[in-house]
Amino acid sequence: MPRSVHSAAPSYAPAWLAVPDDANDLVASVWPASAHRDEEGQIVIGGVALGELARIHGTPLLVIDEAEVCTRAARLRDAFRVAAHAHGTTARIYYAGKALLNTAIVRWVLDEGLNIDVCTGGELEVALAGGADAGSIGFHGNNKSAAELERAVDAGVGTIIVDSEIEIERLAAITARVGRTQRVLLRVNSGVHAETHDFLATAHEDQKFGFPLVDAAAAVARIRAVPGLEFAGLHCHIGSQIFGVAGFRESAARVLDLHEQLLEGGDVPQLNLGGGFGIAYTRVDDPTPIEELAEGIIAAVAEGCAARGIPVPALSFEPGRAIVGNAGVTVYEVGTIKDVALEAGIRRYVSVDGGMSDNARTALYGAAYSARLASRTGADEPVLARVVGKHCESGDIVVDHEYLPGDVTPGDLLAVPATGAYCAPLSSNYNHVPRPPLVAVADGAARVIVRGETIADLLARDAGFER
Ligand code: LLP
Repeated sequence: MPRSVHSAAPSYAPAWLAVPDDANDLVASVWPASAHRDEEGQIVIGGVALGELARIHGTPLLVIDEAEVCTRAARLRDAFRVAAHAHGTTARIYYAGKALLNTAIVRWVLDEGLNIDVCTGGELEVALAGGADAGSIGFHGNNKSAAELERAVDAGVGTIIVDSEIEIERLAAITARVGRTQRVLLRVNSGVHAETHDFLATAHEDQKFGFPLVDAAAAVARIRAVPGLEFAGLHCHIGSQIFGVAGFRESAARVLDLHEQLLEGGDVPQLNLGGGFGIAYTRVDDPTPIEELAEGIIAAVAEGCAARGIPVPALSFEPGRAIVGNAGVTVYEVGTIKDVALEAGIRRYVSVDGGMSDNARTALYGAAYSARLASRTGADEPVLARVVGKHCESGDIVVDHEYLPGDVTPGDLLAVPATGAYCAPLSSNYNHVPRPPLVAVADGAARVIVRGETIADLLARDAGFER
């Protein structure tokens, strides 16, 4: 068992990551509010010790703190309501289901008075199965099929966010056939580059989503000419994991120019400014408090409307990550440990029993995460470690850089916080590793909300397998 001890940062340590005073600490901005260690040193979430959950459900395991989801949903709802009210308008929150979707989450956010945003026929079915009123659903997507659109219109989906000219024609045909009127928003890309990883910025001009601002007026004219379509306004989403207000303000200013122009041809009652509010993944992330963000964005819209002499539209927003991200904690078991000699020193590889199949974000986006021993506290000095998975790929990294107690050992449980958003939805069966269960914890009780996959599940689709 390697036992080397380094109390100073090795030269290959990233500049942003300081050696912690205590490599067992739980940073409040990253973990659910309920997270603490019990007298044995185990991490407890929602009143349940992670060791207990691992014993019952195995590892890897995605633990979701129900109260954290509900508190964050309510805080977002109130922050935007208060700011909207202060500026003479209203604000609706749609939970962006792509961040994490199952019927339990749908019920939780509905109970907090949120609407649901879906972007495929599959997400639409889960939202409906969870009890969402179709009228409160917003339906996105750059390539909704005719069948998906027909299902949405039939089900009575409240708003379809139109993304292409072809979609307008598909909707014209469907609404004419079924004799219904469908409310739509038009998605535009404002050209604002949010300060974020390039793959996450969806308002660049050279990208697949929405209409460039210059083409939008013609598309709206076409929508207004279709008897079965009711044009309600514009939609713009500038990206994800955004920390400041500046990008939203700039984008709103550009979109309002178009909004004002469209008022000449009829009503434009709504404006949806998307989601993208950032969260803390590590101790150095410092997202703007949501109340400040809400006030900053809505004030910008209100000022823009006042300057143009137009009414402030009813606003909506679509956060996903900010609601579920910090509510999720993935629990792994440590399997092997290797100290690899580099020219600059020794790098400790800590292998866990999951990896890029349950969290693709590190491999996909170079996302930073943190990790802590979960089954106990460690006693030795912090050692810079790289937490890796069990997949046959060297890019299979869960946490690229983290200081862990030097006595981390096989059989220890490791917890990675802030995995509630875009981990389960991006999960795969790579290397035929079954996907982990999702377990909700609340008030000292735990329940499975999505069961884990079994090898039988993996073989079930294999047509050559003889049962
Ligand atoms: N609205 C629209 C139109 C979106 O495309 C998205 C995210 C959201 C709302 C919600 O964004 P949020 O509030 O969750 O940031 N897989 C990436 C993120 C992709 C985001 C896609 N769209 C990741 O893991 O970081």
